[in-house]
Amino acid sequence: MEKDGKYIVYHGLLCPKETHSLDSLKYFEEFNVRDDDVIAITYPKSGTIWMQEILPLILNGGDLTPVHTIPNWDRVPWLEETRAALVLDNKPSPRAMVSHMPYHLMPPTFFSSKAKVIYVARNPKDVLVSSFYFHQMARFLDDPGTFEEFLDKFLAGQVLFGKWTDHVKSWRKNDLGDRILYVTYEEMVKDLRGALARFSKFLGRELTEQSLEQIVSHCTFNTMKTNDMSNFSLIPQDIMDNKKSAFLRKGIVGDWKNHLSPEQEVKFNTVIKQEMADSNIKFAWDED
Ligand code: A3P
Repeated sequence: MEKDGKYIVYHGLLCPKETHSLDSLKYFEEFNVRDDDVIAITYPKSGTIWMQEILPLILNGGDLTPVHTIPNWDRVPWLEETRAALVLDNKPSPRAMVSHMPYHLMPPTFFSSKAKVIYVARNPKDVLVSSFYFHQMARFLDDPGTFEEFLDKFLAGQVLFGKWTDHVKSWRKNDLGDRILYVTYEEMVKDLRGALARFSKFLGRELTEQSLEQIVSHCTFNTMKTNDMSNFSLIPQDIMDNKKSAFLRKGIVGDWKNHLSPEQEVKFNTVIKQEMADSNIKFAWDED
């Protein structure tokens, strides 16, 4: 592990020092995964905080207390971040957590456990755009520079948690069998109710129609945007400047069309296609 400016470089991956430390990464490596743990895995900007809202509600049958009283980073902590050690050991089962780590770096107890995983993927062009604005508002990250410069950094994997393609591919080649469920951000936007029904079935938590409705209405973009426990408004402005860009920014599919020039689109598609060529993964957005 090395420290480089605002980041710790962990197995070649950039992790912000604001939220990660050598101790938190050690805690992650030695983490004792329980069989009934539920882990949402995302490449950054693919819907992580959305899952931090959804999972506790599904696991507790729609009780809104945790999402109204506990900030998302303690409610469903990032396994590799500093808050994890402070809250996870004392959380009653079933615990929900999130992680940006690739498959091969997961802790040994994860592989021997029966813990379930929901992997959320998002169109990398929208991830790029979301990440560009996030780098403008998160003062603990490097300034993104121009959109063109940031696009090049993104394609080269010189961004948080490395290349999008490596992350997606790592979580497809696994021995998890029916312990993993794949969903896309786009599917969740299109049919949140359907996605939540899939999650609850996968997690063995059948919900009443009424609880399902309650969770759907609580997890919409507009409701989450007004939830201070989820919109990062509790974070001081010198760390996250919500005036520059809100964390819950637009919450839509296809904003990349407002940002990428035709030349940038070709460049982006060419690199992503090349890097995905050694996999048989197909996404609906490949046709876009
Ligand atoms: P945008 O910047 O495109 O708006 P992460 O939590 O992984 O950092 O991802 C953040 C992205 O997820 C942001 O995308 C944010 O708006 C979006 N998001 C969070 N909650 C959402 C919701 N309930 N509905 C739709 N998008 C949501």
